[in-house]
Amino acid sequence: MDKIIVLDFGGQYCHLIARRVRDLGVYSEILPYDTSLETLKNLSPKGIILSGGPCSVYEENSPHIPKAFFDFIERNNIPMLGICYGHQLIANQLGGKIEKKEVKEYGNAELCVITSSELLDSLESKETVWMSHGDQVTKLPKEFKIYAKTETCAIAAYGSEKLGIYGVQFHPEVTNTPKGVVIFENFLFNIAGCKKEWKMEMWIPRAIEEIKRTVGSNERVMLGLSGGVDSSVTAALLHRAIGDRLHCIFVNNGLLRKNEEEEVQQAFKEALNLRNFHYIDAEDIFLGKLSGVSDPEEKRKIIGYTFIEVFEKKASDLERKFPNIKYLAQGTIYPDRVETHVTSKASAKIKSHHNLTLPENMKLKIVEPLKDLYKDEVRKIGVQLGLPKEFIYRHPFPGPGLAVRILGTIDKQKLKILRAADAILIEEIKKAGIYEQLWQAFCVFLPLKTVGIMGDYRTYEHICSIRIVESQDAMTANFTKLDWTLLEKISTRIINEVKGINRVVYDVSNKPPSTIEYE
Ligand code: XMP
Repeated sequence: MDKIIVLDFGGQYCHLIARRVRDLGVYSEILPYDTSLETLKNLSPKGIILSGGPCSVYEENSPHIPKAFFDFIERNNIPMLGICYGHQLIANQLGGKIEKKEVKEYGNAELCVITSSELLDSLESKETVWMSHGDQVTKLPKEFKIYAKTETCAIAAYGSEKLGIYGVQFHPEVTNTPKGVVIFENFLFNIAGCKKEWKMEMWIPRAIEEIKRTVGSNERVMLGLSGGVDSSVTAALLHRAIGDRLHCIFVNNGLLRKNEEEEVQQAFKEALNLRNFHYIDAEDIFLGKLSGVSDPEEKRKIIGYTFIEVFEKKASDLERKFPNIKYLAQGTIYPDRVETHVTSKASAKIKSHHNLTLPENMKLKIVEPLKDLYKDEVRKIGVQLGLPKEFIYRHPFPGPGLAVRILGTIDKQKLKILRAADAILIEEIKKAGIYEQLWQAFCVFLPLKTVGIMGDYRTYEHICSIRIVESQDAMTANFTKLDWTLLEKISTRIINEVKGINRVVYDVSNKPPSTIEYE
């Protein structure tokens, strides 16, 4: 099968590149930037893409590729596309010049296509693209032509059709570059000559084989089931691979949404017919440990460690009954790893993910079958595995739950207020028929008090922020421009029905630069 290799230079959107390629029906694999030439040769790629990354090409120890690598692609006519750092690296290594810009360019820019080329074929003369860079190419190596520019970047795209090497300073892989997919199509089909052979269904048997290989024929796996799409699909997949050797554990950490513990228990026992389903009520343990803690990273870490502790305790209880529980499965998906700095040697840390802050002495080994996938890919797999629609199309819910939606310290009273407000929001969003179009809709408890008036009384209560976003993969997100009448209805209901809130605000921040969750 035709294959595209994406070399990872630590850019946040590296997996998105591989993903766009897969979406176009071509198999793609991500490898570290320092992969040996031998490994590359053995994979016989039809094309190579160099990702973006946080370094500057002229920094000491910045990632580079050996010259032999360029000789290899030239000898074998393997085309190469550099994106952002990759674009600068190619220019730098082949004799061009890179310079630091005084001000970093970040956000949308207007691309002016100035020369016709195979790479930018079918693009209009002006297109919107997404930029995020501090350096830029200021002089091209010999044989290269400038294909496009922006107001502040004179060489925004370049290439040499003779050498089959191309570069773009912007990010064609993010949705903020609407015609990015056309550029990938041009590269894959017109330049690299790939055939459309890859389908997402092909992923399932591979993943099942991999699980069987890892777990063996005797050992058992535990999985933390949250009821969200990631853990549900992980459960379904593992259940297919190892049947009743899968033990699903549902931990009530006291940070769940209204009625969630009952709904999840019912649904999972019935829908997945899981025989080994274990419920742990750990509300008091979690809330006890979180008492008085207000720092976001501290809260996430406490939740992470407590989760693992609770699991290990349950594991040892179960081990007495079921020998050979050796693995802990997790529904970690790719964006979780990106934002915790574990995708490559060169990326930069953003937020800790509870799933990944594992204690060093943890006894169980980790299985993460969905770790390279994006949410919508996970959903497609879930449908193919026959999971009920309500699991698949549930909005994502973070592992640390409502703890990251209550700013500052957490207590039962704040949780009660937030649950009530959130339930109203979701009820109204579902009634309006827009739940499935949204990536997430939720309430956040702001521990600030403002004055209000209810009837003849002065009130002094908290603020609830409503966060509703649209996104394809959570890497970028836009706030939803919700209908005013609907917003008014939600706000009125929350203020009237939830004691403890007398003001509702609507969050109009996009990601980036904000994140979706508040902590
Ligand atoms: P942010 O807030 O980083 O969130 O823009 C991106 C997406 O990830 C979800 N999220 C988490 N999911 N454990 C999870 O399982 C976590 O610790 C976590 N933090 C954020 C968030 O809801 C959004 O969909």
